Amino acid sequence: MEAPTEEQYQKVSFMAFGDRSTVARHPSISIDLTNLGHLDSRFENVLAPAIREEAVGLTAQFTDNAETYANAYASTPYFTWLIKRAVALADLSQAPRDILDIGAGAGDNSTFPAAEMWPEASIIATDLSAQLLAILNREAKKREVSSRLTIVCVDAMNDIFEEQSFDLVMGSAILHHLIEPLDALKAAHRVLRPGGIAIFFEPFELGYSLVANVFDRISSESALRNEPLSPEVISFMKNFVQDIKRRLGTDKSAPLYREIDDKWLFTRPYFTEAAAKIGFSDCLIEGIQEPKLQLSRYIKTFLRIGAKTTVDALPPWAQHLCEAADEMFVESTREIITEAIVVMKK
Ligand SMILES: C[S@@+](CC[C@H](N)C(=O)[O-])C[C@H]1O[C@@H](n2cnc3c(N)ncnc32)[C@H](O)[C@@H]1O
Repeated sequence: MEAPTEEQYQKVSFMAFGDRSTVARHPSISIDLTNLGHLDSRFENVLAPAIREEAVGLTAQFTDNAETYANAYASTPYFTWLIKRAVALADLSQAPRDILDIGAGAGDNSTFPAAEMWPEASIIATDLSAQLLAILNREAKKREVSSRLTIVCVDAMNDIFEEQSFDLVMGSAILHHLIEPLDALKAAHRVLRPGGIAIFFEPFELGYSLVANVFDRISSESALRNEPLSPEVISFMKNFVQDIKRRLGTDKSAPLYREIDDKWLFTRPYFTEAAAKIGFSDCLIEGIQEPKLQLSRYIKTFLRIGAKTTVDALPPWAQHLCEAADEMFVESTREIITEAIVVMKK
């Protein structure tokens, strides 16, 4: 068989090229799969639905630039801590035997922490990016977890698993990338065994919008005062505000959402209402950061990562706006969530 061209390789995010000779089956998966490794050795062990579908809503950071992305965001100890918190919140009594990790990326922040926490568990890790899954496969070999890991390149909104096949469904920072997160939540409910749990880590509107408000104030004040900040800082702040505005609301039907990665910011009612509608028996939500000082902490973090600067490098009036972000809230700080652990129990 002819090797795919570089152009084809870059398009392999969810596409199986329909080579029926390599069809595989898995007991927990209800459809035929193709092993992408038969098409290109870089995708060794990455399975994909044999019937080809189009990948939407995924940009180059997850495909062509997968290695850079995986290196920049790997944070296994932090996510191990988060998963442990989620499991404690869920009051999970037994170690899960079968785990489905949706939107697993390169695995550092969900698949590998889970593999280490539950050494007896079998894990299916899925993602829409074959490139990230290729990295996951490479790392799984190094960590000697390949024998209990199945890697599938599939859209998280696509329900391809057998009913009641898993004890734990996990998704680390995946739902806000989906045009319709409800589809993934419904699928999670269907494939969980009774008593099973789903855990997610997701960004929330209230905290992000309050942070965006501070950046909006700073960029407009700098224009009013005629005290320009560096172009990098201003452009970061304006982009941040624009990004938040795009993610507001629940109607993601505009074509734009098929072209950007970050599509959603969530609210408590979104998850509690979705969980009740789908039939989960409980939905628990816990902010990840200590509520006190969380806005000023996030501001610092976003400035460091996004604008490569610090609050101290801003003029005094802008520093004041950053530091004062938490001062208006005392009793309600627990309601302000920027990122949360969401647990749904079947
Ligand atoms: C923020 S990353 C999180 C990756 C990993 N879970 C982690 O915590 O590091 C989002 C992941 O979602 C994947 N993704 C985006 N849209 C998807 C979709 N529709 N179905 C499955 N995965 C998707 C991306 O390829 C990427 O790996």
